[in-house]
Amino acid sequence: AVERALRPQKLADYIGQAKVREQLDIFMGAARKRGEALDHVLLFGPPGLGKTTLAHIIAHEMGVNLRSTSGPVLERAGDLAALLTNLERGDVLFIDEIHRLSPVVEEILYPALEDYQIDIMIGEGPAARSVKIDLQPFTLVGATTRAGMLTNPLRDRFGIVSRLEFYTTEELTTIVQRSAHLLQAGIERDGALEIARRSRGTPRIANRLLRRVRDYAEVRADGRITIDVADAALKMLDVDPLGFDVMDRKLLEAIIHRFGGGPVGLDNLAAAIGEERDTIEDVIEPFLIQHGYVQRTPRGRIASAATYAHLGLAPPQSGRDLF
Ligand code: ADE
Repeated sequence: AVERALRPQKLADYIGQAKVREQLDIFMGAARKRGEALDHVLLFGPPGLGKTTLAHIIAHEMGVNLRSTSGPVLERAGDLAALLTNLERGDVLFIDEIHRLSPVVEEILYPALEDYQIDIMIGEGPAARSVKIDLQPFTLVGATTRAGMLTNPLRDRFGIVSRLEFYTTEELTTIVQRSAHLLQAGIERDGALEIARRSRGTPRIANRLLRRVRDYAEVRADGRITIDVADAALKMLDVDPLGFDVMDRKLLEAIIHRFGGGPVGLDNLAAAIGEERDTIEDVIEPFLIQHGYVQRTPRGRIASAATYAHLGLAPPQSGRDLF
């Protein structure tokens, strides 16, 4: 509910992801003009970059209902069939974590996506038979952190595939300023910039940090978010100058102190820091890799010279190259 208050409802209010925005604008405009449902959309990229927000915007801009669910929630074929048969013409069905659909549920989805039809089995044993049900034309919006985890037949059925990228500091600054305005929090540009810089390229993190910095400003200062207030609050939150949080540093320190800087395999790293493999791959690593703090090699993860410098450690003697 707190996140919803800050979520833009129109494409024009959505900041960043210029490429995705331009494409969706054109494809939605064309579908509207023809009076058709928008083609199915796959959104992929790290968490917190706006996949759910875009699903809401698509439904809003197309003037249709949004129905939301997620891959792990749909346990049986009937769960998905119930949702699909209740859709009205042009509606958007949003399936988050679509890479976690079970194979039986995925089977139902194929004819639904291609022909707006489903085949369901009714009854059991010798009396069982298959019944075709026509659906209203609809748009599936699927979201996943990794497109590579979808089966090929599923991925092939999306006519629009969009990859969300980390946001620039400038874009995040604008988002923080917009959110502060909606929250009626006083903020200086430098304060917004400091929060933006330390948000790992991610609006969800920026908005969360903004709320905590606002709390700090109200209790420890006069309520106005200046750069000094932002800096003090972020320090208190254990968000370092590059925006790395406790988990980021734990991962980087483990590679360096427990595995000699790497290479270390994902399973060993997961065990060492007590995190799930998926959390490391989907949530923690992408930002660190994009910015060159971790390298993914065939033999495992490696810490870079920039990581040593950031943690205030001497870089390794070129020893790693010796063995
Ligand atoms: N709030 C969260 N993400 C946003 C975005 N991309 N644009 C505007 N406001 C946002």
